[in-house]
Amino acid sequence: MDGNTSSKTLIEGLVDSDRVHKSCYTSDEIFDQEIEHIFNKSWIYAGHESQIKNKGDFTTFQIGRQPMILVRGDEGAFHVLFNRCPHRGAMLTNWHMGNAGHHFICSYHAWQFNFDGSVHAIPSPKGYDETRFEKSDPDSCMKAAPRVASYRGFIFASLAEEGPDLETWLSGAKAAFDDMCDRSPEGEVEVVQTCFRVVQNSNWKIFLENQLDALHPSITHGAAGKAAADVEEEIKAETGEDAPLHYHYLSAFTTPIYKWDGLETAGHPFGHCMLQGYMGLRPTDPDTLEYEAVMEKAYGKERTEEILTTNIHHVLVYPCLSVQSPLQQLRAVRPLGPNKTLTEIWHFRLKGAPEPIYRRSLQYYNLVNSPSTMINADDLYNFWRCQQGLESEGGDWVSFHRNEGQDHHKDGVTTSVTGLSELPMRHMFTAWADYMKGGAS
Ligand code: FES
Ligand SMILES: [Fe+2]
Repeated sequence: MDGNTSSKTLIEGLVDSDRVHKSCYTSDEIFDQEIEHIFNKSWIYAGHESQIKNKGDFTTFQIGRQPMILVRGDEGAFHVLFNRCPHRGAMLTNWHMGNAGHHFICSYHAWQFNFDGSVHAIPSPKGYDETRFEKSDPDSCMKAAPRVASYRGFIFASLAEEGPDLETWLSGAKAAFDDMCDRSPEGEVEVVQTCFRVVQNSNWKIFLENQLDALHPSITHGAAGKAAADVEEEIKAETGEDAPLHYHYLSAFTTPIYKWDGLETAGHPFGHCMLQGYMGLRPTDPDTLEYEAVMEKAYGKERTEEILTTNIHHVLVYPCLSVQSPLQQLRAVRPLGPNKTLTEIWHFRLKGAPEPIYRRSLQYYNLVNSPSTMINADDLYNFWRCQQGLESEGGDWVSFHRNEGQDHHKDGVTTSVTGLSELPMRHMFTAWADYMKGGAS
């Protein structure tokens, strides 16, 4: 049996159109196949170009189980290499980010590598005379990821030699990066050079499913939302002014369920999904008006209106990213095991936008997405409880029945009849099954 046949057999009977078997979240064997057929086949987010501005700047990340390095080389080129020394196999670095100077130098026996992975120098090279060792032999060089590409500054790498190019694969999910960059008067964003790294004791799919689960916010986060709404009211009563926008990030969780019902979710090719925006992000305070004036100067009135009314809350780039473009937030998903997932939470500056607009992004990062906020903590607690329940013998299935059979299909895109539909979960599992059967890449 080849790999495709074995994973096809393994998942047989586990994914229906309206439910999936719990073992998709708990089985070691299925997790191994996900690494091979999903993470090693699709494009995986490596980092942002602004993370590696100068020659020798690098950042480390993982694709499936592979430790990788993203590095800036000569003449602005960027490379994605396996983090492995070809001499005796040591990892070249265990730093999360840094600058390697002119070359990577292995700290074990000091082999040196150029940033495209080729050998620069080896100590005592005479020892290799009359052996079959060749500096130019690919086995002597750091191995590169077969494919690397960037879309609007966001770099992805793929361990598959073949497959759709990055833009084809991103398809409708390009909107995440377009929306984020277009909100900058210069059309570009710049990463803030640090991230929260959170290990969740739950399966990676539980995290992605939650991101577009519009039924949970007013329930799970209702108490935090109510507390913020009370403070908003107090501020208004005391000062006569509206509370600053960041209170609304939390009070928006009091949005009643019937309003979430009015939103739309959409499923795009390759498992990517989208949820429309629910928060008002255009108050008429002086900071917002100044920003809109800068935007109008750069783009003109009509285009500025078009950009600022783009209606996105969340885009999932399946299987590796959750992007909240209007607030310049990005979460990278790195699965560690069936019940363990690393997420990296990044945020960005809109280049050329006034400083208070950056502070809004920072406030969202700290108030909603940070592991120490009540919002993220509420979610992490749910993820852990789901994992515990799924590992129990209390039942075999996970239900995705809500509005099943009612989704609209047009031009390869599936849209929901209601924001509360479990369309995103069904859609991601359709892509999951395709990948696991050897397709979708
Ligand atoms: S293992 Fe890297 S130089 Fe020997
Ligand atoms: Fe949540």
